[in-house]
Amino acid sequence: MTPTPAAEAARRRTFAIISHPDAGKTTLTEKFLLYGGALTAEAGAVKARAGRRAATSDWMELERQRGISITSTVLQFPYRDHVVNLLDTPGHRDFSEDTYRVLAAADAAVMVLDAAKGIEPQTLKLFDVCRQRGLPLLTFVNKWDRPGRDPLELLDEIEQQIGLVATPVTWPVGIAGDFRGVIDRRDGRYTRFTRVSRGATEAPEELVEAERAAGEEGEAWDRAREELELLDSVAADLDPKTFLAAESTPTFFGSALTNFGVRKLLDAVVDLVPAPGPRLDADGTPRPLDAPFSGFVFKVQANMDPSHRDRIAFVRVCSGRFERGMVVTHGPTGKPFATKYAHQVFGQERETIDEAYPGDVVGLVNATEVRVGDSLFLDEPVTFPAIPSFAPEHFSVARVRDTGRFKQFRRGIAQLDEEGVVQVLRDPDLGDQEPVLAAVGPMQFDVALHRLEHEFGAPAELSPTSFRLVRRTDRSSADSLRGMRGVRILERADGTLLALFESQYWVERLEQEHPELLLERLVAEGSVG
Ligand code: G4P
Repeated sequence: MTPTPAAEAARRRTFAIISHPDAGKTTLTEKFLLYGGALTAEAGAVKARAGRRAATSDWMELERQRGISITSTVLQFPYRDHVVNLLDTPGHRDFSEDTYRVLAAADAAVMVLDAAKGIEPQTLKLFDVCRQRGLPLLTFVNKWDRPGRDPLELLDEIEQQIGLVATPVTWPVGIAGDFRGVIDRRDGRYTRFTRVSRGATEAPEELVEAERAAGEEGEAWDRAREELELLDSVAADLDPKTFLAAESTPTFFGSALTNFGVRKLLDAVVDLVPAPGPRLDADGTPRPLDAPFSGFVFKVQANMDPSHRDRIAFVRVCSGRFERGMVVTHGPTGKPFATKYAHQVFGQERETIDEAYPGDVVGLVNATEVRVGDSLFLDEPVTFPAIPSFAPEHFSVARVRDTGRFKQFRRGIAQLDEEGVVQVLRDPDLGDQEPVLAAVGPMQFDVALHRLEHEFGAPAELSPTSFRLVRRTDRSSADSLRGMRGVRILERADGTLLALFESQYWVERLEQEHPELLLERLVAEGSVG
């Protein structure tokens, strides 16, 4: 008997790992696969890393140069009777919309911190946005095998900087750099780990009684007990309700390199991350899990790999059963969309996928007309809410270097706009000649330039502008604003008119002196740092 979509959804856990580059996201991903039985660490780690280093495409070249991962994909593996979907987020050094779009398809995220560094400034915004948007966050304090900071201080930092109450589920025995094991605060039991070379196999674990541990671990044990008493006195206990409301973050200590604490974390993903539930449509009505197939596109990527010059739309399944080959309806155009080519994509590898359930991600190849946020469905129409976009804070003018390549430049710019790599703003008088590229994080510009040159054959240059913020306006206000100093009026591809300003002060003054002007904040602005 074919399982119902609701039953399959109940087994699924869909989440992403977010971290500052180098905090250990890749290592932790590999170790999740090891504990999920999806690879033998030796083979898998080598393969994943070799793949990362030896890849030859231009696309990968940029990743290598900048130490970032741009491709966004999903890894699926079984763990205890569950199906775990791990979404890969682009590892940009600064906040980017790309990352946020991927998180729109996740039911939770694991925030990985380097024990020696804590919360690093560039990733603060990302963590903060997750919290503000109500995405449940688990925290993994990684690299406890190396000298690092005081654990209580790290908890404090999470609370101070992101406003999440850190509720440690495990507590380390041994300071950072002298990691012996963890005490599980839920049952008070101590698990001691044994190191294996480079964490190539699961770390041997031994449950040790308190009395014996006190004798064998000595001072490290006493210290951990004292810290735990302190935690108990401030009631920093695991609370699933506040976790789901993104008010607290269950925190784990470990070392992805040596595998210490990885199993506890993966168990928590299964035990604490919510299973995919009925998704609310744009009107706020839930679509039952057993309703006919539906999903929304959270990411579109063209030319991910030069050997497959194509365009993939990543769809998160929200209801029903997806079967490869089914013809679904593309919400915005009402056109039929054949899903003959459905893949599961990870890095450069693709595997044909035959069926998928709520919480799963399907990569649809040759999705020419499909855009981020679009809904796809079978039988019963549905529109899912738009994925929030962020108000850009960086604006640069783009020019093609060789005017003979203008056609390619224009095509490239249009493509980057559609994919949401950057937002493209045009001056109605200049048209496509000198578009202004707008971004939330400046790294988006690097990606845009690289792709213009290598994918579209249109090397371009960017000149930064002094504009820092943007307001939505209308035609009549735009006419008045045009003559004013320090304002520029530009148009987005969807026809929205935007006014760019250099400073908050200037906008506030205009608002006071000209209350008749429409100067509206963009949706997500103000809600992010
Ligand atoms: P990222 O994806 O977040 O960028 O981080 P990645 O996993 O690539 O890890 C960055 C570096 O930190 C790697 O070292 C990795 O081995 C190391 N690392 C990750 N987790 C731990 C941990 O728990 N303990 C210790 N001590 N190190 C850890 P590398 O020298 O850049 O690479 P490699 O030569 O070790 O592969």
